[in-house]
Amino acid sequence: MKPVKVGLLGLGTVGGGTVNLLQRNRDEISRRAGRDIEIVHAAARHLDRPRTCSTEGIRLTTDPFEVVDDPETEIIVELIGGEDLAKELTLRAIERGKHVVTANKALIASHGNEIFARAREQGVSITFEAAVAGGIPIIKAVREGLVGNRIDWLAGIINGTANFILSEMFYADREFGDVLAEAQRLGYAEADPTFDVEGVDAAHKLTILASIAFGIPLQYDKVHVEGISHVGQEDVAYAQELGFRIKHLGIASRTEDGIALRVHPTLLPSRQLLASVDGVMNAVMVSGDALGPTLYYGPGAGAEPTASAVVADLVDVVREFTLAPEDRVPYLAFQSHALSDDPVLPMDRVETAYYLRMQALDRPGVLAEVARLLGEQGISIEAIIQKQPEPGAEDVPVIILTHRVREWQMNEACERIEAQDAILGHVHRIRVETLD
Ligand code: HSE
Repeated sequence: MKPVKVGLLGLGTVGGGTVNLLQRNRDEISRRAGRDIEIVHAAARHLDRPRTCSTEGIRLTTDPFEVVDDPETEIIVELIGGEDLAKELTLRAIERGKHVVTANKALIASHGNEIFARAREQGVSITFEAAVAGGIPIIKAVREGLVGNRIDWLAGIINGTANFILSEMFYADREFGDVLAEAQRLGYAEADPTFDVEGVDAAHKLTILASIAFGIPLQYDKVHVEGISHVGQEDVAYAQELGFRIKHLGIASRTEDGIALRVHPTLLPSRQLLASVDGVMNAVMVSGDALGPTLYYGPGAGAEPTASAVVADLVDVVREFTLAPEDRVPYLAFQSHALSDDPVLPMDRVETAYYLRMQALDRPGVLAEVARLLGEQGISIEAIIQKQPEPGAEDVPVIILTHRVREWQMNEACERIEAQDAILGHVHRIRVETLD
């Protein structure tokens, strides 16, 4: 089948990430979508800027309308941000019968009702997973995974920059302006950083989440918005003394009188999971009547995390107009003819770190012998503890943490350790995973 041809508006951080991801994971994406996806035409404000991606094989222009009007492009990916031009381009793409994938939260929150109505008339899709919480598939989770629930509330850290600033104020005792400058340097912040700091960006995202959760039209102008600029270093410290963290939350909840939509700094008990979401990470808690509270966590900004959501939307759209209904969401995520025969590893070839506990006679040379037997199998020790013997006892517990090792090597080592006279009984083993 011929590749799907995509037009890209914007070759900045997320645009570059999208090009890179589509190129790097080309085969896997094609096995999932049922067709190759190719960016053929892209618009950038400046053509001579250094890029984070290769633009080989992509026609480049400074005129985004050229990309939208190109008869070859079937899907338009809008990543230029802002409202007016983005809206004009999106409506034009819809008029031309093209599907649109966008990461533009301001566009959807403020003009989504109109855009969706026009798209419905033209029979095209508008997808916007990347608009909320970057790479976290929160829209898919709420719109699809949780549909059996009546959603009662959701609360999220949905602006990475604000969270980064508050985290740095907490951990590094740094001043607000200083941290904001770093967030800008790192490329997390919006073009206008007051959007991050004053809660506008979070309010855009909350508007979208609330509509999906409660089935209400998008109503950005009804969100109560407060930013973090009045949160002082002393507030962060006092809150900590009281057992709280200050987080900038977007909260949407169902009340007897209506839906409450608010974005503001919030004291959260330190033990609450959301309180330990730090740095540029985002997390959204959604509570439904059947499932109770659920938590979705991940990178909420950045080139490839956001591109991950853009590509997911692209694949959804491609499946929609390419495949028979039964293949649109393949049972095993990949198209059935494209399943691979990658072998599943036997357990003895799996690699993990280990916690080992054994009882050893408390006499010279025993630990050295255990260390030697581990070393013989190429197992490196990360930490070792020998406990005091119980009164009158001759044996002591020895606890060892190892670096990562193949299962078969650990099996051999334990067999040899257990064969030592000075080791009593079995070596108790628990695998260690840091999930880094
Ligand atoms: N400025 C946004 C943030 C980028 O900091 O979360 C992702 O929408």
